[in-house]
Amino acid sequence: MSSRNSHQLLYFKRDNSAVTLRAPAKINWTLRVLGRRPDGYHELESLVSPVSLYDDLSFSVRPEPGVKLICGAPGVPLDESNLVVRAVRRVAELAGIHAGVECRLEKRIPVGGGLGGGSSNAASTLVALNALWRLNWSRQQLASVGAELGSDVPLFLHGGPVIMTGRGERIRPAELGWWGWVVLVFPGIPVSTAAVYESWREAHPSGSGGQTDTRPPEWFANAPSGAVEWMEWTYNMLEAPAMKVCPALEELMRRLTGMANRPMRLSGSGSTLFTAFDEPGEADRFAAAVTKEVGLEAGVVRPTRQAEA
Ligand code: C5P
Repeated sequence: MSSRNSHQLLYFKRDNSAVTLRAPAKINWTLRVLGRRPDGYHELESLVSPVSLYDDLSFSVRPEPGVKLICGAPGVPLDESNLVVRAVRRVAELAGIHAGVECRLEKRIPVGGGLGGGSSNAASTLVALNALWRLNWSRQQLASVGAELGSDVPLFLHGGPVIMTGRGERIRPAELGWWGWVVLVFPGIPVSTAAVYESWREAHPSGSGGQTDTRPPEWFANAPSGAVEWMEWTYNMLEAPAMKVCPALEELMRRLTGMANRPMRLSGSGSTLFTAFDEPGEADRFAAAVTKEVGLEAGVVRPTRQAEA
């Protein structure tokens, strides 16, 4: 092979040795804790949808083995405690690959906000490595590696609304009876998921979630279609324990509910609060009022149907 050709090959390879994708946040429309499991996790049932708030991840191969994560956002660990690093190591191990990879992460999803940012980053990492290293793994294979990394990782491999069960890792596709605008309010207080579950356990010493009159997640496929009625049917059984862990959330929830004139929900174990609007103008006005009157960051997003990576 001539040196010109090998350069071309190198250049070609360089062009094809980088993958850039977007990792969406998620919100939980419903979240039911069914009980504690023998493995210490909790059995869940939750209707979740990805929303149009994204982190950007760019992966490229590098000559040195190992993974180098570059991220300028405060509060984002760059070591083994970051799920991106863990995902790269696990895939390399399973695939027997010794090449290195560099990941540039542009973070927009708040850390510790109940929006699944870390899990979504991990799911994107699996998809990126599958392409970069030409592994040809099926979505099922990626989901099983994802479930090892974290309970919320597999849901991001689906790309639309899903119902999560088990500890969160079992996924089935779902329909939403309402598609509109969602305002996310970021209280700026990271809440530990493990602490919220611990608080749930203290409130449920029998380990069981007990009887409830909540609607099953499938019901939301044909739910009343207005935003206010829609929000009235949503629920999250981690709200009370999250407010015990972080009492400031309770007062904030009350205040925002009054301002929005409709229910607010906590996403996952918090601390992000959200509500729904049928018109984009209404959503914009509420988000602006939250920033002006409460001094908190708020953003308008939409539920998304497809993986837009
Ligand atoms: O699976 P993941 O690492 O994301 O979970 C973080 C923590 O949240 C777990 O260590 C556990 O304390 C708690 N958790 C739980 N039950 C679940 C999911 C998470 O108790 N279904």
